[in-house]
Amino acid sequence: MKILQDISLKQYNTFGINSNAKYFAEINSEEDLRKALSLEEYPDKFIISGGSNMLITGPLDAFVLHINLKGISIVAENENNINLKVSAGENWHELVLWTLERNFGGLENMSLIPGNAGTAPIQNIGAYGVELKDNFVSCEAMNISTQKIETFSKADCNFGYRDSFFKNEGKGKYVITAITLKLTKKNHQINTSYGAIEDELGRNNITNPTLKDISNAVIAIRQRKLPDPKVLGNSGSFFKNPVISKDEFGIFSKAHPEAPFYKVSDDSYKIPAGWLIEQCGYKGKRFGDAGVHKNQALVLVNYNNATGKEILDLACKIITDVKKSFGISISPEVNIIK
Ligand code: EPU
Repeated sequence: MKILQDISLKQYNTFGINSNAKYFAEINSEEDLRKALSLEEYPDKFIISGGSNMLITGPLDAFVLHINLKGISIVAENENNINLKVSAGENWHELVLWTLERNFGGLENMSLIPGNAGTAPIQNIGAYGVELKDNFVSCEAMNISTQKIETFSKADCNFGYRDSFFKNEGKGKYVITAITLKLTKKNHQINTSYGAIEDELGRNNITNPTLKDISNAVIAIRQRKLPDPKVLGNSGSFFKNPVISKDEFGIFSKAHPEAPFYKVSDDSYKIPAGWLIEQCGYKGKRFGDAGVHKNQALVLVNYNNATGKEILDLACKIITDVKKSFGISISPEVNIIK
């Protein structure tokens, strides 16, 4: 393991923020990770993997460990299912394609989500009616203070909407090294409940979709709405969709009967933050090199050389305006790194 100094993190975060790390190392094995975490002369460690869910707002005066653990293996199998163990540094979308080539079902709705396998549990990634937790068995993570590997079951992970143990009690305490997923070999659970998928399949006259058809539909929808981070820096949805109570929803929907919403439970409703932000006039707006994507107001973009601080200022302006216009608080989904 080589420790480098003053390394730009631009290629390691999908927002393309050009901030430097004081110290930096590639982590290619569990042994590298154990060693790096135990180095007491670098007290502040910062873990970066796919860098797809973070906004770096300044230089990182820390020892940045880039998780590059690779490998996919079958750890259990029967007639109907297969369990895959996937190392943390595997690219998520390449993993999805790998499973589809072998006709393993479960991940197709989550095609083209940026990031790596190891960070998927942290925010319980999800798209088009499916979340990671629906296929999740367990994960392994190294305890930062003991450098021992611990196993977390699905229950231990305490998954919620874009939420898990690793964003709460476990925050800053673990580095996920591998995840285990359970996929189907036959009788696949095709999920077209998300309207946009049905529309896309209908347009292509597909009535009996395969896993690959679902994946292709999701890819087409995402490519229309979401910018490719390789072309335009971004971190996917910048904000979470706010969940409001039944009473708040009553007041909101009376004032805005045209607003889209999803009922989450008898007492809670989710409002698309993209709609709220668009109503405030931000969709497609650009402020210097920071902007709001023209096809999806939930996504903030870096046109070229925006600093993390400029993106953060824009996010704060949006939060204030949404609150002023609708009385609803929205909050970032991405991790803000100060
Ligand atoms: N909408 C607008 N204007 C916009 C964007 C959205 O009016 O600019 C409204 C529309 O009514 C639309 C509704 O919001 O029908 C929902 O939009 P969309 O289907 O694009 O989904 P979303 O709620 O904006 C969420 C996830 C996405 C995920 C999609 C599809 C969050 C924070 N985001 O977005 O996840 O791909 O659903 O399942 O839950 C991500 O987390 O990075 C991400 C892209």
